Amino acid sequence: MMGARLLGAAVVALCWAAQAVAAFRNVTTRRFEDGYTPLFGERNVLPSGDSRSVRLLLDQYTGSGFISSDLYNHGFFSAKIKLPSDYTAGVVVAFYTSNGDIFEKNHDELDFEFLGNVRGREWKVQTNVYGNGSTSRGREERYLLPFDPTAEAHRYSILWTEETIIFYIDDMPIREVRRSAAMGGDYPSKPMSLYATIWDGSNWATAGGRYKVNYKYAPFVSEFSELALQGCRVDPIEQVPAAGRCAEEEAQLLAGDFAAVTPERRAAMKNFREKFMTYSFCYDSLRYPATFPDCDIVSSEQERFKESGHLKFGGAGRRRHRRTKRRSRIPAVAGAWE
Ligand SMILES: *[C@@H]1O[C@H](CO)[C@@H](O)[C@H](O)[C@H]1NC(C)=O
Ligand SMILES: *[C@@H]1O[C@H](CO)[C@@H](O)[C@H](O)[C@H]1NC(C)=O
Repeated sequence: MMGARLLGAAVVALCWAAQAVAAFRNVTTRRFEDGYTPLFGERNVLPSGDSRSVRLLLDQYTGSGFISSDLYNHGFFSAKIKLPSDYTAGVVVAFYTSNGDIFEKNHDELDFEFLGNVRGREWKVQTNVYGNGSTSRGREERYLLPFDPTAEAHRYSILWTEETIIFYIDDMPIREVRRSAAMGGDYPSKPMSLYATIWDGSNWATAGGRYKVNYKYAPFVSEFSELALQGCRVDPIEQVPAAGRCAEEEAQLLAGDFAAVTPERRAAMKNFREKFMTYSFCYDSLRYPATFPDCDIVSSEQERFKESGHLKFGGAGRRRHRRTKRRSRIPAVAGAWE
């Protein structure tokens, strides 16, 4: 059993190497102190001496997080992330953009969320897109990772432009959301900050809350490096910038290598989604009887995901439909988790 698992992992790793795409050219990284600031659990936010990387810890007292010092009106947000290893059930690491602090009722958000697991089981990754407070319409996708994200750092990036959102893993696009009129306000449109957090998600993260964080294994350490932020910086007071104010930065974003979905990258994305996506809101007709306007229903995918949106693994236990709860990744009072 274990042998089969390891063999499976090795085969997957080979596939990943074969499909890896050319790295982004010209991503300008910045020092932690030049673009970010601790958000909560400050004593568990540990920048390296040269400020080129930062560790976020979760221990029995508090999780931790940092935030970009500015809001961005569209942008490219990127970091290499190494996730905590060993027993990490209930642990959640998130790398996301949001303006929830400013727009409580109609915020926008783009997420990478990493969900820890019991020893020997892989981390899961999910992405999500919210616009203008569309929290009742979670556009959630989940994936397995074709590598061990605790063994070394891998790059995770979010590109958000006027027309397109692209999630990248190791410079390979894994998800693309194109703005359409039908999507309306569900497409994020207000300036957002970048957040990175580690927190206790015991009540839902692993097997729907069955496995809690076990602090015997604390501290849980995540490491962020090669931090990149690009886009039009916006004053929080100004919030929505005057038209045309960000034209130059928007043009720079579109000119970036990370904005070019070449045929090679598109093929890699298709391949990744076929092999590693395990849940898609697009196919979850139990939760969403009406299809979303931004979903391209692929009939071969529909066949595999059935009506629950969950990939069916032969014979593996059936999963119950899980309600998405509104949840906060930032405790109202740092250190207070309940
Ligand atoms: C890399 O990016 C910087 C800043 O955006 C720019 O000034 C420079 O010309 C770029 N270099 C290349 C080779 O594209
Ligand atoms: C966003 O939501 C607010 C109400 O919460 C609404 O007034 C506004 O028109 C919406 N914006 C868009 C672009 O849909």
